[in-house]
Amino acid sequence: MKILAPLRGVTIRAFRHVFAEAIVGAGFTEAVTPFVSAVAGVDPAKDRELKPDDAFPLKVTPQFIGKDPSALRSCLRRIKDIGYDTADLNAGCPFPMVRNKGRGSGLLKNPGLFERMLECGCEEMGEGRFSVKVRLGVDSPGEFFSLLPVVNRFPLRFVAVHARTARQMYSGECDLAALAKIASAIKPPLVANGDLAVDAPEGMVGRAFLRSLASRGDIKDLLSRYAEFSRAELCGDRPVVGRL
Ligand SMILES: Cc1cc2nc3c(=O)[nH]c(=O)nc-3n(C[C@H](O)[C@H](O)[C@H](O)COP(=O)(O)O)c2cc1C
Repeated sequence: MKILAPLRGVTIRAFRHVFAEAIVGAGFTEAVTPFVSAVAGVDPAKDRELKPDDAFPLKVTPQFIGKDPSALRSCLRRIKDIGYDTADLNAGCPFPMVRNKGRGSGLLKNPGLFERMLECGCEEMGEGRFSVKVRLGVDSPGEFFSLLPVVNRFPLRFVAVHARTARQMYSGECDLAALAKIASAIKPPLVANGDLAVDAPEGMVGRAFLRSLASRGDIKDLLSRYAEFSRAELCGDRPVVGRL
């Protein structure tokens, strides 16, 4: 399993559509979408990000962020209606505004709620169809490890672990010893993430893939196509330039 990492604002549906050949060429077998909010009363099927794309050849798994199990459940029902059979929970977003409200990596600080979110996801999607993406912890790399007795009770499709704490944000070293300790005790399949090379045979890869695009001979054409595709979706030059 080699998964294109969710990068909000970057590995979005439009990007996956235009860069599909490059994504397949890099050996990815599937993609997880950047997070969509699981909030009561908001229909994820209306989100542009989750509009199915028949031209994208790989499996796509919608990712949700939230802290309300019943809102998550209704979102999962809706995405099943429009053809998805897997879903992912974001328990890794490190931004203080998100985690201090108990969403993203903030879920790791609330084991009871984390458990209910996993329970709801597994129940609604079915065995082996719900996954979760986490950090090693918020403040210390042992926090997720201490949640393994909870995680190991669920028939998760995989657990993707970005081998940094939330406090580290996106810099500093990945803690491979902490990742190895998790690998030795986790039951669901473990997907490693964080600073993997673009040619890694498996795992979840984000930024290294983006960097690799720069050296493609056809990058200018691809970017022109991306701009054109985005122009049709967005209003005005500014958001198109923002995407690029
Ligand atoms: C700009 C940006 C946006 C991101 N958006 C998400 C997201 O929506 N959901 C998520 O789970 N992780 C998100 N991440 C984290 C990545 O999926 C990944 O865990 C991280 O970049 C480490 O992997 P890498 O070194 O291969 O890029 C984001 C990271 C970046 C840099």
